[in-house]
Amino acid sequence: MLELRGISYYAETRNETVRILDDINIKFEDRKLYVITGPNGGGKSSLARIIMGINRPTAGRLSLDGEDITDLDITSRARLGIGYAFQNPPRFKGINVKQLLDISVQSEQVGQTDKKACDTCALLNNVGLCASEYLHRDADTSLSGGEMKRIEIASILSRNLKFAVFDEPEAGIDLWSFAKLAETFENMHRTRNTTIVIISHQERILELADEVIVISGGKIEEVTTKQKILAEITHTSDCSCGTDCGKGVGMNA
Ligand SMILES: Nc1ncnc2c1ncn2[C@@H]1O[C@H](COP(=O)(O)OP(=O)(O)OP(=O)(O)O)[C@@H](O)[C@H]1O
Ligand SMILES: [Mg+2]
Repeated sequence: MLELRGISYYAETRNETVRILDDINIKFEDRKLYVITGPNGGGKSSLARIIMGINRPTAGRLSLDGEDITDLDITSRARLGIGYAFQNPPRFKGINVKQLLDISVQSEQVGQTDKKACDTCALLNNVGLCASEYLHRDADTSLSGGEMKRIEIASILSRNLKFAVFDEPEAGIDLWSFAKLAETFENMHRTRNTTIVIISHQERILELADEVIVISGGKIEEVTTKQKILAEITHTSDCSCGTDCGKGVGMNA
């Protein structure tokens, strides 16, 4: 179980201190699939960065299976089995897609060369990419945003993680590949022991959730069920402004 207790995060800008996360308390239970949703700028990616150890909380503690991990860096958290697929994945100069995926697979399957090659192809298929077209492409800016996004998701899928966070996996991904990706998450949840957190605004992803966490204004606004949140989304707006402004559909939009 990953537990966050009293997590706050403040960032320093040139002339002020900005409160980004405020007293976040949550327990992520093993093997559950959580969807984190909420308005843009609410603090979802900031929370993911704190879980991965990219940013250090201003206050509060994190623990994994009872072990305090607040002071551990990214590498140590990765060794404990925490992984994060970025909202905007980084590009890599000088390595190709196969090498990038091999780095992840290697850590899981030392010495199983044949299985490794075949797994690399399966990984790309799982995110809707044809292995023969992509394995030897450079993992740099020559890949489109959607291609790089899917390759990064494949690299996270390749690791047998204890806790995986996917930050808006749908961003920039076409409808056909997205359907395949949603199936892949569903399979991952069914067949692996990983606790999965998907930051998403997509109905198809919300449908996969065991629990939905709504983050808004740096706070947890609600921990709820997919049924409730999906009903709220389809609910006609209560706002009387006469436009389709979204007010009254939950999440304090
Ligand atoms: N280093 C920083 N300095 C100043 N403001 C920051 C910093 N990092 C994040 N923020 C602000 O904190 C808020 C939360 O950002 P975050 O990226 O976590 O939002 P989000 O919920 O992931 O939004 P989105 O749905 O658009 O991805 C935003 O208003 C953002 O501008
Ligand atoms: Mg974000």
